[in-house]
Amino acid sequence: MLKRTLFPFLLCSLTILSQKSYADSVCQAVDLKCEYLIDPLGIDAGHPRLTWRMSDGRQGAAQTAYELVVGTDSVGVSRNKGNCWESGKINTSAAMAAYAGKGLEPFTRYYWRVLVWDKDGAPAQAGRIASFETGVMGTGRWSGSWISDGNSIQVKPAPYFRKVFTADKKIRAARAYIAVAGLYELYINGQRIGDHRLDPMYTRFDRRNLYVTYDVTAEVQEGKNAIGVLLGNGWYNFQSYAVWGFDKAPWRGRPAFCMDLRVTYEDGSTEIISSDEQWKTSLSPVIFNSIYTGEHYDARLEQPGWNTTAFDDSAWKGVINRAAPSGHIVAQTMQPIKNVEEIAAQTMTRINATTYVFDLGRNIAGVSRITVRGTAGMTLRLKHGERLYPNGEVDQSNISVHYRPRDDSDPFQTDIFILKGNGEESFMPRFNYKGFQYVEVNSDQPVTLTKESLVGYFMHSAVPPVGHIHSSNPTIDRIWSATNHSYLSNLFGYPTDCPQREKNGWTGDAHIAAQTGLYDFDGITIYEKWMADHRDEQQPNGILPSIIPTDGWGYEWGNGPDWTSTIALIPWDIYLFYGDTLILAENYDHIKRYVDHIDEVYPSGLTSWGLGDWVPVKSVSPVELTSSAYYFADVSILGKAAKLLGKQDDFIKYSALAAKIKNAFNEKYFHPGTGIYGSGLQTELSVPLYYGLAPDSVKYRVATNLAARIAADSSHLDVGILGAEAVLNALSENGFADVAYRLAAREAYPSWGWWIVNGATTLYENWQIDAKSDISLNHIMFGEIGAWLFKGPGGIKPDPENPGFKNVLLEPHFVAGLDRFEATHESPYGTILSSWARERHKITYAVTLPANTTATIRFSLSGKERIYLDGKRLTGFTAEGTYQVEAGSYQFVIR
Ligand code: BGC
Repeated sequence: MLKRTLFPFLLCSLTILSQKSYADSVCQAVDLKCEYLIDPLGIDAGHPRLTWRMSDGRQGAAQTAYELVVGTDSVGVSRNKGNCWESGKINTSAAMAAYAGKGLEPFTRYYWRVLVWDKDGAPAQAGRIASFETGVMGTGRWSGSWISDGNSIQVKPAPYFRKVFTADKKIRAARAYIAVAGLYELYINGQRIGDHRLDPMYTRFDRRNLYVTYDVTAEVQEGKNAIGVLLGNGWYNFQSYAVWGFDKAPWRGRPAFCMDLRVTYEDGSTEIISSDEQWKTSLSPVIFNSIYTGEHYDARLEQPGWNTTAFDDSAWKGVINRAAPSGHIVAQTMQPIKNVEEIAAQTMTRINATTYVFDLGRNIAGVSRITVRGTAGMTLRLKHGERLYPNGEVDQSNISVHYRPRDDSDPFQTDIFILKGNGEESFMPRFNYKGFQYVEVNSDQPVTLTKESLVGYFMHSAVPPVGHIHSSNPTIDRIWSATNHSYLSNLFGYPTDCPQREKNGWTGDAHIAAQTGLYDFDGITIYEKWMADHRDEQQPNGILPSIIPTDGWGYEWGNGPDWTSTIALIPWDIYLFYGDTLILAENYDHIKRYVDHIDEVYPSGLTSWGLGDWVPVKSVSPVELTSSAYYFADVSILGKAAKLLGKQDDFIKYSALAAKIKNAFNEKYFHPGTGIYGSGLQTELSVPLYYGLAPDSVKYRVATNLAARIAADSSHLDVGILGAEAVLNALSENGFADVAYRLAAREAYPSWGWWIVNGATTLYENWQIDAKSDISLNHIMFGEIGAWLFKGPGGIKPDPENPGFKNVLLEPHFVAGLDRFEATHESPYGTILSSWARERHKITYAVTLPANTTATIRFSLSGKERIYLDGKRLTGFTAEGTYQVEAGSYQFVIR
């Protein structure tokens, strides 16, 4: 019996193993992506970016040339014939190219293949044929009208829409294109289409709307078909009340959509079924939905079969045509939000016959699903929160502070489920998410629930994980994991500050967390979309709001360079991590407008515009010091981008402006006698080091003072979010890695470890766990430590001269107090491994570099150690103390 069950498993794992080693040993182009997605549907880009990586396990493996073949005929492409583009053999190691063939047609599937040549100039084995399919490619090309049910913005129930059509020939393919102001679920013949959640992503609806494409060939059938659409409010029709006034958003309207269903028949003809005045509408059982607070569902109002052909819709009413919400209807080319993980409740506490509290065991962003039996009309309220009162009930007082309800009809982070009473019933909200660990279920009648009655779903933009940290210190590993949980809890098609109290696209929080995100997740598609949101929100004079997207709130408060430098910092980070200049080119004029505005208002080069070192432990650093550092970073990035993009005049102009800011900064804040900045606070010393304002000649002195300051502060942090971003890097980049590690690993207040030892599974907003304000338990703004783990102990850094990890800067810090550390990052070229272990006086350092990359290794050692590679004493260090290696695996021994 045992044998029989085990055998298939063994066989299967053997097959997987042999497939894997085969794939690694065969030299070929793999991971083919278009616009950073695998075989995407519905792209609008006229020159989509094609990327790949070379799989080749040999030492020194490198690509010497590539050739791209793109065509509409897959058989032709498989024979290396592309009727749209044949790039010809290009002698380069670049693993990315923008399509440069014949003009792309909308609604068309293109196949492509890349041929690569290895380090010896031999052609690699042909890889798979990839594809991309164009979408509508232009707002003017839609056939459908924008329709709504014509109700006012105050009407609460979510509208259903339906339409029946006949496909009278054999179907070859069918695609649904749907653009929505609000949120939607799409159904064909009763089937829900796709597994995206909260589509489309939030944009500034009156400037840009996203549409989503689906392959619905399997759902559309010859004969009669029914299309069903359910619309939710999302940020488009905000019916709750909170301090930011989204209920008064200029774009606000009753949710509406525009849809084209393109059916291609076997005979080559096409038919488009569109949203128009022939559709019918009715209110749904979703009797209230708010992205901010919750969803209310009355199962008694269900209309079984509403989205099928058999349904009698004679009682439904007509729809109205309305104007498009904006003139830009563009493809949503990004990783969608999904229910990524199902989380079982760890415990359930029965408080009394009508009240139960479920604990998921960890804090998440997402929703819960309840499964229950009861009578018709029985009402459950599901209250979600991060904390419990001493009596075991859910306490929302840390997260409901900015909520301004006008009555009790819309309780905060609470779903309301009214049962229909016919056996087991389930409810999960469609158009809302929350931040929570606990769910308190209150019933208006006695009810029996078990631990299995409720599950949680961790929702976020489903960005693929690309980073991993593992060390000999469990607290460090848990900090890394909590950081990632907060990062993902705050990624919903735009980066947010927290998933409960605000869900706002706070700029400052996002740039602080960007590198953490990029080391750990393949998030380029989210950031590219968010930069388009920036461009939509920027005023002609360059000013950006502090939250993006916004209803208008945030142009007056919180939007200095310490927050809104996202306009420069994020494109630069993307350039470093992906080696792609497009994001710099697309945002170039916007960075410039932003920088020019600051230059105009603050001609001295120093600016006091900003919030400063937010939520500090105790000491408060001057706003001008931190804001000017971000301003300097932006101007420096602008200068570097000008150079990359061949804008020589701007390069000269902004390099000079950067030099001016640096001088003004050092003149005002640096004290040459003492080697301190300002009054010598941790933030004051860290920020100039991290942002490159401290001249090389004084860096070590400043870092020494920083280490001394920390010692004087009882070896604990005394920073807010800006200082926390800088301090660990400032120390480890300037000779004090051990001090950085001690701060990072500290478990006493105030520290990241303090949260962890107190049970945190996400990062908090405040160092003080019992703070009276600013105490969400799922904030990412102290999250740069995630990136620091890769850069500091892991030592993996992108090289600005050869970005995208084409050349990797490897500078591991074998810090005192840690015995083992392993960092891996799946770069665009493949997996980089940097791993070390200490055994008495010996350190073994293992490195793996993917094909087509190199690394510059620097060991930060005291100078007395000897370094061996493959048993031989290592020589060949450059004058700068670095050692250059090519792709492959290496093991260094340091004694
Ligand atoms: C947010 C922060 C944000 C800050 C700006 C808070 O309410 O939650 O994360 O950056 O305001 O001051």
